[in-house]
Amino acid sequence: MVGDCVAKDSYPDGNITWYRNGQVLLPVDGVVNVEWWKEKNSTSGLHNMRSTLEYMSTKEDINAQFSCAVIYYIPNALATMESDPAVFDIYYPTEKVTIHVQSPKKTIKEGDNITLKCIGNGNPPPEEFLFFLPGQEEGIRSSSAYHITDIKRNATGDYKCSLLNKIMIASTMVTVHYLDLSLTPSGEIIKQVGDSLSVSCIPSASKNVSVTWMKNQKILAQPSFSNLQYRDSGIYECETSLMEVDGLRRKKTLRLTVEGKPRIKLSKKTNADGKSKTILYEVDGFPKPEVQCVRLGNDLYLNKTEETTLSNGKYSAKIIISPEENVTIICSAENKLGREVHSLNVSAISFPESDDRIDSSGDNNDHAKLIVGIVVGLLLAALVAGLAYWIYIKKSGSTSKHVGKELGNTEENKKLEENNHKSEA
Ligand SMILES: *[C@@H]1O[C@H](CO)[C@@H](O)[C@H](O)[C@H]1NC(C)=O
Ligand SMILES: *[C@@H]1O[C@H](CO)[C@@H](O)[C@H](O)[C@H]1NC(C)=O
Ligand SMILES: *[C@@H]1O[C@H](CO)[C@@H](O)[C@H](O)[C@H]1NC(C)=O
Ligand SMILES: *[C@@H]1O[C@H](CO)[C@@H](O)[C@H](O)[C@H]1NC(C)=O
Ligand SMILES: *[C@@H]1O[C@H](CO)[C@@H](O)[C@H](O)[C@H]1NC(C)=O
Ligand SMILES: *[C@@H]1O[C@H](CO)[C@@H](O)[C@H](O)[C@H]1NC(C)=O
Ligand SMILES: *[C@@H]1O[C@H](CO)[C@@H](O)[C@H](O)[C@H]1NC(C)=O
Repeated sequence: MVGDCVAKDSYPDGNITWYRNGQVLLPVDGVVNVEWWKEKNSTSGLHNMRSTLEYMSTKEDINAQFSCAVIYYIPNALATMESDPAVFDIYYPTEKVTIHVQSPKKTIKEGDNITLKCIGNGNPPPEEFLFFLPGQEEGIRSSSAYHITDIKRNATGDYKCSLLNKIMIASTMVTVHYLDLSLTPSGEIIKQVGDSLSVSCIPSASKNVSVTWMKNQKILAQPSFSNLQYRDSGIYECETSLMEVDGLRRKKTLRLTVEGKPRIKLSKKTNADGKSKTILYEVDGFPKPEVQCVRLGNDLYLNKTEETTLSNGKYSAKIIISPEENVTIICSAENKLGREVHSLNVSAISFPESDDRIDSSGDNNDHAKLIVGIVVGLLLAALVAGLAYWIYIKKSGSTSKHVGKELGNTEENKKLEENNHKSEA
């Protein structure tokens, strides 16, 4: 029943017509039924008319405007009078339920707050639903919005909702992305030089991810240390990210410090001016060792040049002396892990040095090279000496003193050259 349309006190009588959205509604069996009544007031002679409309509504009639009009004759014309339009609520049951996920970003990550929204297409829309969480038989009764705060990775799965009668079920898949990174060892790590250390950085994520290693901001391959050196010290970072998920990245840091006892090497040479000698030390160790050199029998520390860094954890400096007599120099290198002391015999300035590196605590390879160098040097010296002697015999006029001096200088220059080659090697 859409309504009753009444026209009162008309003369002559007229007809009532029904309209839907301005279109005349014609009777259709079982869908549009219109009934009319007319009566004449016997005292006034005026007519009253009434009509009812019965209409079978469908969803298309949502917001449709129904109205009625009375049409009657006036002299030489037709007149009409229209009612106000009326709109009716059309009620219909839910035929379909849908579920969707409202999340702050396109992808969902651990810690997000999400809302599951369930909608039934009936009118009025259903207000209560059952929500089924992944793997749960029992539905949770809720309004059309079901909130999940701080969602966890184990919340990944199929979410369903239905009307309370459990017919018409909608479902949607929710994937909660996550990214973990485990670095072992991590934090501050202190190892001794020569130790081995295996490190691993293992990601665990909702998708396949790869890790990137960086040392002091430079990319490098997965590090592995079978024999730690001072140069291995540094800040190692292992990083990974999930491309698909905005802002999901993880980084772990390892601060590796390689420590070691001091090791010191001493060498000496006569300077080109022939008036002084240079003692060179090379020291390694971490923390940086403190080096002090004294002359045996005299407790004064010897002045040394500023230490230069040869490589990570390796330093050198020089001491220049002009000994009047044969002296022994003692150098000690010390850090919190230990102390190493070496001595070096330096002959008086009037005796040019014939030996080079005294200390040979370096590796065997260095040692072998040194020995070969010395042997070759001695052979060359012998050759030069032989040649000089031969020249001396030939030129019998020359003085032995003069040749001796020359011989000394040549020999020393050879030594210096060799020394240079060795430090390059
Ligand atoms: C009312 O309807 C009747 C019968 O359908 C018709 O004869 C008459 O002319 C109509 N009157 C008007 C004013 O349209
Ligand atoms: C999730 O909601 C809670 C309160 O309901 C709020 O404290 C928290 O900050 C929200 N988290 C995010 C990531 O928006
Ligand atoms: C998911 O994990 C959280 C801890 O992260 C736990 O409290 C919760 O019970 C787990 N839920 C399920 C369904 O396993
Ligand atoms: C992840 O990687 C493994 C092996 O590397 C592979 O078997 C698997 O199919 C990958 N998964 C995806 C989602 O790419
Ligand atoms: C060492 O150097 C200091 C200042 O640089 C100087 O005063 C001192 O005399 C020097 N000592 C020796 C033994 O040369
Ligand atoms: C230094 O000379 C002393 C004698 O003056 C000797 O006993 C010592 O062995 C020498 N040291 C080295 C390293 O040659
Ligand atoms: C000093 O050393 C040189 C060799 O380096 C040696 O020939 C000389 O005898 C030494 N002098 C003294 C006083 O020991």
